[in-house]
Amino acid sequence: MCGIVGILGKAAVATQVVDALKRLEYRGYDSAGVATLENGRLTRCRAEGKLRNLELKLSEAPLTGAIGIGHTRWATHGRPNEVNAHPHATAKLAVVHNGIIENFRELKRELEAKGVVFETETDTEVVAQLVTDALQEGRTPLEAVGTTLPRLRGAFALAFLFEGEADQLIGARHGAPLAIGHGDGEMYLGSDALALAPFTDQVTYLEDGDWAVLTRAGVTIRDAGGHPVERPRQTIPTGSFIASKGNHRHFMAKEIYEQPEVVGRTIAHYVDFAAGRACPPDLPFSFRDLRRLSISACGTAYYAGLVAKYWFERLARLPVEIDVASEFRYREAPLDPGELTIVVSQSGETADTLASLRYAKSQGQHVLSIVNVTTSTIARESGALAPTLAGPEIGVASTKAFTCQLAVLLSLAIAAGRQRGVLDEAEERRLVDALVGVPGLMSEALRGEAEIELLAREIAKAKDVLYLGRGTSFPLALEGALKLKEISYIHAEGYAAGELKHGPIALIDDAMPVIVIAPSDAVFEKTVSNMQEVAARGGRILLVTDRRGAAEAAMDTFGTVVMPDCDPVVSPLVYAVAIQLLAYHTAVFMGKDVDQPRNLAKSVTVE
Ligand code: AGP
Repeated sequence: MCGIVGILGKAAVATQVVDALKRLEYRGYDSAGVATLENGRLTRCRAEGKLRNLELKLSEAPLTGAIGIGHTRWATHGRPNEVNAHPHATAKLAVVHNGIIENFRELKRELEAKGVVFETETDTEVVAQLVTDALQEGRTPLEAVGTTLPRLRGAFALAFLFEGEADQLIGARHGAPLAIGHGDGEMYLGSDALALAPFTDQVTYLEDGDWAVLTRAGVTIRDAGGHPVERPRQTIPTGSFIASKGNHRHFMAKEIYEQPEVVGRTIAHYVDFAAGRACPPDLPFSFRDLRRLSISACGTAYYAGLVAKYWFERLARLPVEIDVASEFRYREAPLDPGELTIVVSQSGETADTLASLRYAKSQGQHVLSIVNVTTSTIARESGALAPTLAGPEIGVASTKAFTCQLAVLLSLAIAAGRQRGVLDEAEERRLVDALVGVPGLMSEALRGEAEIELLAREIAKAKDVLYLGRGTSFPLALEGALKLKEISYIHAEGYAAGELKHGPIALIDDAMPVIVIAPSDAVFEKTVSNMQEVAARGGRILLVTDRRGAAEAAMDTFGTVVMPDCDPVVSPLVYAVAIQLLAYHTAVFMGKDVDQPRNLAKSVTVE
């Protein structure tokens, strides 16, 4: 989603604002802009496309103001062009916005009836005009923002800069994150601490409904009712924000290769290897007392939850219902008080997943969140937290967060199995041993990259690709299809292998590669039958299996990726490496923007 930066500085800030926006590029954007006060006068510079376009314009016409706001825009309303780029401005103020103002049309009509003429199609300009209208009625900037915010519906974060106010920025958050940075005679605003890292490690996170007035001397925070409140000031270890590609060409490649390390770190957090025990975080409930588990997430995180459904039901005999978060609250799932909902989210800011959390809490459920950003809104609003220790995931396509989510979920399923008396000590130890072995198996799987890269060149020629899997390989087929489509833009679908004959088999021809994810597990033979159905109709198969599977499949494939032997229970973590590499190399071969694919954002903070 969009990125927001604000700086109250001691000298020209435009370059610092752009540098901070670069640390938010991972969120995805399609235009950018800066506004400063030049001798008290509002001045803007905006550009379509990447930040380098904005930098070029600034180099030709530098801004020298010591106070400024900046923005990277991911278009929700209005085309991704310069006119619609933020900051939006009137004669009185400039504003940058992340999120959606759901009632902007009715507010726009109200303002147009007053004679206001709009320049853009955006919801953000409505906010600028609304505050301006209040200023023209004689209110101060503080009063004007204070009367405007309660009229806005939706999820948003805002930062305002006012004509003639060289020592004041106002920031507000309502559903989309906003952080305040404390400097030495300087103050900062940012969508997250990553943007502020070059300036400070002293950060205050606004809570929903909060708005803040910043001067160089400090900050005053008010809650939704306008009452002054205190929010904790945290020290964020900026070293943890080392966002560099290392010796990789893309962040996605780096993050694929980080998996053995970060999955190992995550596993170590949730098992006692010596004792062979799964060690869940302190939880305000016992799995023994649960009758049903709900899981809700989006995208890749949802597929992690789908794998976990198999694990909780098989290892703990705990019935699981799982929904994509955008459906969960609207389905009005009947949730009993005292039961458990698990939400999974890398960013911890996904609007739909946050809404699932709030829906579950409204139904009296315990909510356990599995998040990668422990300072995120989802983390802060959860009753219990099981963090993934993947470190910052910059590539828009989620990789290491996915396998860390799986590691946490499997450790929880094992703990649930023990608490519910389904697993005995020996079975727990066996499963913990299998989990502890995953990082080594991932490293072994990474050694197959060169072969996968060659196969990717075949996939790159396709217009459509089908992924098949059974059991926990079915959610992996869905994830593989998502990885491929979101970075290569090739249409790809994941299907339960057994479903092929109920329709999709009509698609089979020699132009559509069929990628079959099939460790030699209990359902392998069934999947071999499905592969024979595909081959009999001229389909071209890429098989991802292990040595035994490769030997037993004994059929023509255009490629076979042999994975390290592993306990079937952990195959989703190990086989994820192969499907990630396949998607990555396909997209690289096609020359796509792997880390920032078109139309996508790293964190979707709007519904
Ligand atoms: C995954 O590769 C995608 N980038 C996307 O589906 C993502 O998983 C989804 O938007 C959920 O994000 P979250 O984990 O931050 O909530």
